[in-house]
Amino acid sequence: MYLRSLSIVNFKNIRESTVDFSPRLNCLIGDNGAGKTNVLDSLYYLSFCKSFFNPVDLLNICHGESFFMLNGKYFRREADETVACGFQSGQKKQFKRNGKVYKKLADHIGLLPLVMVSPSDANLILGGSDERRKFMDGVISQYDPGYLESLLRYNRVLLQRNNLLKQNGADPALLSEMLAVYDMQLVEFGERIHLMRREFIEKLIPVFQYFYSFISQGNETVGLSHQSDLYGNDFGQLLADALPRDRVAQFTTVGIHKDDLQLSLSGYPIKKLGSQGQQKTYLVALKLAQYEFIRQLSGMKPILLLDDIFDKLDRNRVEQIVKVVSGDAFGQIFITDTNREHLDSILHSVTPDYRLFKVINGKIELAS
Ligand SMILES: Nc1ncnc2c1ncn2[C@@H]1O[C@H](COP(=O)(O)OP(=O)(O)O)[C@@H](O)[C@H]1O
Ligand SMILES: [Mg+2]
Repeated sequence: MYLRSLSIVNFKNIRESTVDFSPRLNCLIGDNGAGKTNVLDSLYYLSFCKSFFNPVDLLNICHGESFFMLNGKYFRREADETVACGFQSGQKKQFKRNGKVYKKLADHIGLLPLVMVSPSDANLILGGSDERRKFMDGVISQYDPGYLESLLRYNRVLLQRNNLLKQNGADPALLSEMLAVYDMQLVEFGERIHLMRREFIEKLIPVFQYFYSFISQGNETVGLSHQSDLYGNDFGQLLADALPRDRVAQFTTVGIHKDDLQLSLSGYPIKKLGSQGQQKTYLVALKLAQYEFIRQLSGMKPILLLDDIFDKLDRNRVEQIVKVVSGDAFGQIFITDTNREHLDSILHSVTPDYRLFKVINGKIELAS
């Protein structure tokens, strides 16, 4: 699956641009603030019906304009597909596939699989456990629509249960009756979510480790493990045992909403021990593993966006990344960088099959 051509009108700092892309490697070169990341974001938008950065669509309209439009011509499963999106301030955004408007945006997600590797992924390492749950949830819900439903229902019941715990002086009989109902539902959805996360991480680990050692070419060992209260425990029993504590805390202290991922390098937490380059390698390897996962499940090679990968990585590591993504397991790729010489020399030595674009002040041009 790949994007043949893209046309952008008034999306962030890109007023008007139409570009034909290579089905393989595309490199966008330009100074800081030129609009390279904005181009990648427009591709993200066409796959996920939203910006990677701004949930507020108004902020994605070019300053001083009243609408934006994106139009992508894709080649997917041996057929042409046109996906268009329009958003006008004050109106609902519209998404069309081959001229036909989607009734629900959710129906579009999954049609054009895509993985974004962005500097903001650093939050996965540096941020709180919610970032890491979001990572697991984001990937799993891309291939299992039932997962998101379970998660929404779990969170709804959790909120109700927490509200109940906050009510002082409630009738004890009524309280325990309601808790029993809530706990039953938490157990039902929570165990399902636990199992899905566990299976996902188990499958992800070997692929992640493969990519890490390929990129680092060294003997650093990396670890990734799923941490959850539910390992080796019966969730219903955990809830019952934690009740006295929950009542004092006035919220639910055990469950899958406390899950985390332990990220380590040579046995130590990567957040504390890893250099910036090692952390970045860790994240790229994790995202490439995610790519491989989605590729197998969707039966299509997702579009891969590599934003600013040179930043903080040494030349050898970037070369290894370019080498691995130029292989058969990957399809169309977009790489951004500020320095043309960098990229030219690496690409030349790895693959002749790439197209170079210059991004200047929100304009995209084929570089000679
Ligand atoms: N809604 C918008 N309208 C106009 N310009 C915008 C809008 N949103 C962001 N920008 C501009 O886009 C530029 C950043 O573009 P970006 O793609 O992140 O640059 P880079 O090439 O460094 O990746 C900034 O100059 C920012 O002011
Ligand atoms: Mg950028």
